[in-house]
Amino acid sequence: MSRVVVTGRVPEPAVETLKAEHDVDPHDDSAPISREALLAKVAGADALVTLLTEKVDAELLDAAGPQLKVVANVAVGYNNIDVAACAERGVIVTNTPDVLTESTADIAFGLILMATRRLGEGERVLRSQTPWTWGMFYMLGSGLQGKTLGVIGMGGIGAATARRAKAFGMQVAYSSRNACDPAVAEELGATRLDFDELLSTCDVISVHCPYNDSTHHLIGAEQLALMKDTAYLINTARGPIVDEAALASALADDQIAGAGLDVFEQEPAVHEGLLNLDNVAMVPHLGSATIETRTEMAQLAADNTVAVLAGKEALTLVKP
Ligand code: GLV
Repeated sequence: MSRVVVTGRVPEPAVETLKAEHDVDPHDDSAPISREALLAKVAGADALVTLLTEKVDAELLDAAGPQLKVVANVAVGYNNIDVAACAERGVIVTNTPDVLTESTADIAFGLILMATRRLGEGERVLRSQTPWTWGMFYMLGSGLQGKTLGVIGMGGIGAATARRAKAFGMQVAYSSRNACDPAVAEELGATRLDFDELLSTCDVISVHCPYNDSTHHLIGAEQLALMKDTAYLINTARGPIVDEAALASALADDQIAGAGLDVFEQEPAVHEGLLNLDNVAMVPHLGSATIETRTEMAQLAADNTVAVLAGKEALTLVKP
């Protein structure tokens, strides 16, 4: 029996899978565990099942000890994990790709509709009991039919968002480090563009790349200045890919038409400049937040943990 530390509350079936073979030490609280408590809890762990709110760095790995074999992140993004520090210690890292693709694309498209059709703003009118009447020119938004979605990072979630856009009558363009699977490009009729060309020509730009050193502030003041003043920026990937201060000033100056954000630079904080703007739709990191998806994510992390502890290959390995 190995010692498995689960650093946050996860759906029960995953815990049952782990308990069937191992000694499980859960953190049964919906609030994230404090750093001090985490450092103490991981001591002697053979496996860590982690949430994206926990930073897995050299200090934490050393606090766990040399017997640690696997860190199974319950997220597709793993920027909370120092993968190199894990590799140096022979610790396997796994993530949860694919199972959250559709639910995250749903939130991306939901934000596209919220931003372009002013849904949050409309709801605020009603909730604040602001007087309104139907009017020919009242609260006009921007239609999607015939417009172009520009996807930054055409992986699974980018493609799933593009599929939704196509169903709404949009054209699809993308910019990615590598050309996407030709079958996907053909299915979506997707054109690959240079990053700057994508920024300057697309009507809705949706961010779907991973966050790492090379994508920090990938979209800053310079890139926002390239966008059309009728264009919208959507981010469901990771907050720091977009310079939030630069975005707040671009939105305040109507340099772009609007934005939709599921992720933020300093979660759970949101840049002050965004809070009173009507042209930004915001939700609190809900991309994968469905009962079904969270259950599958936790199950995949549990299955990865059990596999590695049994000396088998991880199902979804993060390559060092
Ligand atoms: C959520 O943000 C994830 O990376 O799974």
